[in-house]
Amino acid sequence: MQVFNDVKEMQNWCLNKKRQGQKIGLVPTMGYLHAGHLSLVKEAGRHCDIVVVSIFVNPTQFGPNEDFDSYPRDVESDRKKLAEEKVDAIFAPSARDMYREGYNSWVELKGEITSKLCGGSREGHFRGVTTVVSKLFNICQPDKAFFGQKDAQQAMIIEKMVQELNFPITIVRVPIVREADGLALSSRNVYLDEEQRRQALVLSRSLQKARQLAEDGERNVSRLKQEIRKMIEAATQANIDYVEIYDAEDLGDVEEIRGSVLIALAVKFGNTRLIDNLIVEV
Ligand code: PAJ
Repeated sequence: MQVFNDVKEMQNWCLNKKRQGQKIGLVPTMGYLHAGHLSLVKEAGRHCDIVVVSIFVNPTQFGPNEDFDSYPRDVESDRKKLAEEKVDAIFAPSARDMYREGYNSWVELKGEITSKLCGGSREGHFRGVTTVVSKLFNICQPDKAFFGQKDAQQAMIIEKMVQELNFPITIVRVPIVREADGLALSSRNVYLDEEQRRQALVLSRSLQKARQLAEDGERNVSRLKQEIRKMIEAATQANIDYVEIYDAEDLGDVEEIRGSVLIALAVKFGNTRLIDNLIVEV
């Protein structure tokens, strides 16, 4: 497994592999890797000849009051975890190399898909994501790129960008990996104290409850959202950012549960903002 810090060197290595006819799989991450990231890595290994994992805490997708500085980092432990997987290269560039002085090229999707959910509460976030992912695509030349359903809106946005900007890349979505008790794995879970960790279970539990209600015949979107809110508000440290239900294909508004809908939550425990989601099909 090779480690590249230099953008040009990474790009040359990937272009070379491609010329040899090798299929490249890219797993973009911000590091502090957990079993959720590793399930993307394993999936990439099943699909592609060469697996590249990028580790880059991307400054342009964090708002001025967000956790860029404190975002957990441990590249050495990440390297050890990836050495145990079928990974050919780690790409861990510096912010200075990714965004040279005077940097001013941006990739931005407009419309509902970026303005709702996390786009509503994290201004400029998705512009940073689509910009860095475009750069990673151009540097690493993947045939396939792997994204987690944990960030459902992000995966949707990347798929639309790839389609609209004609990137010759297939996006593969990987299901959410959870702790045994249901909490979705996240690098940010380390911020939670014991009590917050216990209360954070309400996210997956309220989603399960909503699924149950829908399966039992509840079709009313506001009533379902209300049920979820009630459960989350019972957790004393929980502060709801959003509880929403949208069309799972395009985030269009829905008035009733029909077809495939995405139930998505963002909730803060102290300063830690957690997200979770579930797709319900009826
Ligand atoms: P990061 O939060 O590190 O996540 C990297 C990838 O791992 C994303 O595709 C995310 O959806 C996936 N992932 C995280 N937790 C998961 C879980 N519990 N189960 C399954 N997949 C999970 O998302 C980003 O980084 C950045 O925005 C990035 C795409 C790298 C651009 O900077």
